Amino acid sequence: VKQNSKISKKKKDNLQKVMEVIHKAVECYSQTWKKQEDNYQKFRSNLSSKCHGLEEAIITQNNKPVGSEIVYDGSKKTLKVTPELFSIFMKEHPFSNKTLDTCAVVGNGGILINSSCGETIDSAQFVIRCNLAPLGNGYEKHVGTKTDLVTANPSIFINKFGALNGRRRPFVESLRSYGNSLLLIHAFSFSAYTAVSLRAIYTIEDFESPIRPVFLNPEYLKSLHLFWRSQGLRENRLSTGLITTSLALELCNNVHLYGFWPFSNHPHDLYPLTNHYYDDVKPKKVHAMPAEFDLLMRLHSQGILRLHLGDCP
Ligand code: CDP
Repeated sequence: VKQNSKISKKKKDNLQKVMEVIHKAVECYSQTWKKQEDNYQKFRSNLSSKCHGLEEAIITQNNKPVGSEIVYDGSKKTLKVTPELFSIFMKEHPFSNKTLDTCAVVGNGGILINSSCGETIDSAQFVIRCNLAPLGNGYEKHVGTKTDLVTANPSIFINKFGALNGRRRPFVESLRSYGNSLLLIHAFSFSAYTAVSLRAIYTIEDFESPIRPVFLNPEYLKSLHLFWRSQGLRENRLSTGLITTSLALELCNNVHLYGFWPFSNHPHDLYPLTNHYYDDVKPKKVHAMPAEFDLLMRLHSQGILRLHLGDCP
């Protein structure tokens, strides 16, 4: 009984915290948003000097030569770069010396359902999407179709495509909607993900799919982790949405976020929402989504990025 009352107190405290974040978010969102160039420049140069995303976010032949070591971010294991592995790394970093104008980062939140944001999202110069989220099936009106970069957690290759041990065509067909975008694979979080990620890359090559697979650099993730910790975020693993937002903040002058709302009710009308716009699989416990959201809201109110919580015109 004692334990039960402890649990319910913990749950109550959590609920209270979440309600506070929602309340703050709605209040902050109701104010007119204006980009604050000074805040943005300061934040970006701090982030760039600590994380060097434009040179380090992706593994390349420059930052990981043959013989160097890759240290996994989710375990203490390491992997030596062999000539074979090296040969599939990108030659040069796709973002070095680049600044883009407007970027849309699309989170997978159920808040996008019936948002009509597809056209607005697609009008951005660079569109980033997470975890191979689906684009067809009538979703396009609300999430758009343009994709310049899409992330993939290798658990998707395992759970949805039989770890690519059997027929591989369904996997290649599922990539068609992302055209020739960059496919950013989280191959070096755990050693169990590496072999299946390589199979994904060989499949893409063998079937001549136009998508361009690249690896997320675990060293970049480590520096991002420290950076966000210095901003007050305490969590074990950063969510895909925060990783892609961080990259966009270095890469783009104007960062717009859609589909970021890790709560189960709509901010304005409070009707129940599914976790994703395409399913209701609950978030992983390792992420501190409401705390991340609180941070993003802070950046929104400082005019550093713009969160979109309402429907689009
Ligand atoms: O892999 P992960 O669990 O981080 O992501 P996901 O569920 O595929 O969603 C992609 C990203 O969208 C998340 O990392 C969050 O940043 C964001 N998201 C959100 O803000 N609210 C939701 N209800 C769902 C996702």
